[in-house]
Amino acid sequence: MDVPKNIFIKEVGPRDGLQNEQTALSTADKITWIDMLSATGLSYIEITSFVHPKWIPALSDALDVAKGINRKPGVTYAALIPNRKGLERALEGGIDEASVFMSASETHNRKNINKSIGETLPVLKEVIGAAKQAGLTARAYLSTVFGCPYEHHVPLEQIIRTSETLFDMGINELSLGDTIGAANPVQVQRVLEVLLKRFPKENIALHFHDTRGMALANMIAAMDMGITVFDSSCGGLGGCPYAPGATGNAATDDLIYMCAQMGIETGVDLSKLLSAAKWIEDKTGRELPSRNLQAAKSKNCFH
Ligand code: HMG
Ligand code: MG
Repeated sequence: MDVPKNIFIKEVGPRDGLQNEQTALSTADKITWIDMLSATGLSYIEITSFVHPKWIPALSDALDVAKGINRKPGVTYAALIPNRKGLERALEGGIDEASVFMSASETHNRKNINKSIGETLPVLKEVIGAAKQAGLTARAYLSTVFGCPYEHHVPLEQIIRTSETLFDMGINELSLGDTIGAANPVQVQRVLEVLLKRFPKENIALHFHDTRGMALANMIAAMDMGITVFDSSCGGLGGCPYAPGATGNAATDDLIYMCAQMGIETGVDLSKLLSAAKWIEDKTGRELPSRNLQAAKSKNCFH
């Protein structure tokens, strides 16, 4: 098996994690947590989402969060942006990378952003162009690549076509979303085999939700194909409110532990990351899915 010397982790907990939390966190708590995360060695944090506050009430304080964090040099602070209005707020908040998003399947796209795929593409094109003109980099999420909660199987041709369109629009990176945690390692390699014939592996990231406990296995399958950028969430927080039943992302804590054991550099301090996971677990008031967090708690590592 081929494993890379190092991987690059994109921490999405403050966005993908908190967007679905039932317990409302204060703006001050979000800021404290993001600052804890940037002190762990993580060099990329998706801090919030400039979507419509009615659609994602948990992140309605996006601008205050973006303005309130202590920016650590060398850390990229990204945010989810659905349209021009979201971009304007993100620019005011000093965001470094614009993350646009859409789905490979028509029904999830419509449920999530109230538009057909055909209607969404020009909106994203405008955001990507304007973001790049303003000096930001642009990343796109393509959701439901490995399964849709409404349409189930998503044809590969649809994934290829949409990926091509997004790269033509000028994105720097495409993150392939396993929105409902349905992927398996063989499927991951089959999808990558096709996509990597068309796009450089350096521009592809993987975003696995861990609904069925497959996220780490899927990441190893992707590493074996040369992928080195992975999205994950501290404590394993997360989920899309418009993908019923889907749980959190792969836990950053588990990914870092696994990499450390396998000799793969992440640049992140596991004990600091676990402290940040414990801190946010206490705030949410529910046990988080991260296995390493639960193991650390059982050994009473937190003082
Ligand atoms: P819409 O209602 O169709 O918007 O929502 P609209 O363009 O028709 O505008 C209606 C009103 O909303 C207008 O105000 C706009 O100004 C306002 P009015 O004129 O009526 O007073 N508006 C906004 N206000 C604030 N910020 C904005 C904004 N845009 C419009 N950005 C919209 C369309 C896309 C905005 C909405 O559907 C939305 O916000 N959806 C977001 C859903 C979401 O965040 N889902 C979770 C994230 S995706 C995910 O988790 C998957 C991912 O993790 C990858 C994976 O796991 O696969 C990324
Ligand atoms: Mg997600």
